[in-house]
Amino acid sequence: MNGVVGKIVGVGRALGERVVTNDGFQNALNTDNAWIVERTGIKERHFVADGENCATLAADASNKALEHAGLKSEAIDLILCATSTAPESMPSVACLVGDMIGAAGIGAMDLAAACAGYSYAASVADSMLRSGAARRVLLIGADVMTSIVDQKDRSTAVLFGDGAGAVVLERGSGESGFVDHILGADGGMAPLLRAGHPGSDEKLYQNGREVFKWAVRIIPQMVEKLLARNDVSPEQVQYIIPHQANTRIIQAAVRKMDIPEEKIVVNLDRFGNTSAASIPISYPDIYGHFEPGKYVITAGFGAGLTWAANLYRI
Ligand code: UT7
Repeated sequence: MNGVVGKIVGVGRALGERVVTNDGFQNALNTDNAWIVERTGIKERHFVADGENCATLAADASNKALEHAGLKSEAIDLILCATSTAPESMPSVACLVGDMIGAAGIGAMDLAAACAGYSYAASVADSMLRSGAARRVLLIGADVMTSIVDQKDRSTAVLFGDGAGAVVLERGSGESGFVDHILGADGGMAPLLRAGHPGSDEKLYQNGREVFKWAVRIIPQMVEKLLARNDVSPEQVQYIIPHQANTRIIQAAVRKMDIPEEKIVVNLDRFGNTSAASIPISYPDIYGHFEPGKYVITAGFGAGLTWAANLYRI
């Protein structure tokens, strides 16, 4: 395949230090492990501990991705962080990461597209590599959902976790890299899922049922579009990494697609919904199994509403 550019050469993740099992909610909220597992598939999630925030997690994941790639931070040209939970309105998380990993001086910016953020940012990073503006991009998805979720609201508190995933993308030789991207948004559906700034009193609200039904439609639509317009068959796909919002969403979406369930990456049971981090935190578990020539599809969806997907050739 000619023309593929942004190749993943290193992956890393970081999770909040505090592991919270479903039983941890039982006393404070009127909920139980059985409901959470049956309705969401989540068994535990990680919350930040004192001293941790979106930028520290992002920097930790970035250092691991660089180490995995065998590169020093000086090798990076641009830091791009997908997040909706920067600890402050300014500076951006990407700027703080640049300082923390010893890469101050290079371009750094955040991109906000909620749970679709990683897939959005991957398309931007790929474009920067294609245009020649950068040779290596540190691409991060990071969110500290505990900063915008009401821990007294059982309908949302149990769903989300804190984490960051990072990848090092480099201009490859044309064999392996991103092939195609889909981006979409509909601000008319904004009332279905929204939250105030981190730390404000306006906590996350979602119309779970409506978002659920929409997500089950949008995942297969994006996957089928990417396959059809790039002439890729389901057999050529090794992994699909959907945004990790709910295992029932993923299962229902899979039933609509001609793709065996074992190709679908699911880690909600361990991490919950980490928003923009949920796709890139999946890479460390599968990267070592990548089969050259096959494809990986990453598909995000979330507040905005936003949706985005990427077709990647291994
Ligand atoms: O990442 C961004 C995108 N977000 C999503 O994709 C989320 C999509 N939505 C969902 O995943 C699901 O809608 C939820 C997991 C949020 C909720 O599951 P559901 O099966 O749609 O439940 P529901 O909202 O229809 O609520 C069913 C019942 C309600 O009680 P009543 O009104 O039937 O008496 C809720 O009050 O479950 C109750 N409930 C709970 N019960 C025990 C809601 N949360 C809990 C809880 N424990 N934690």
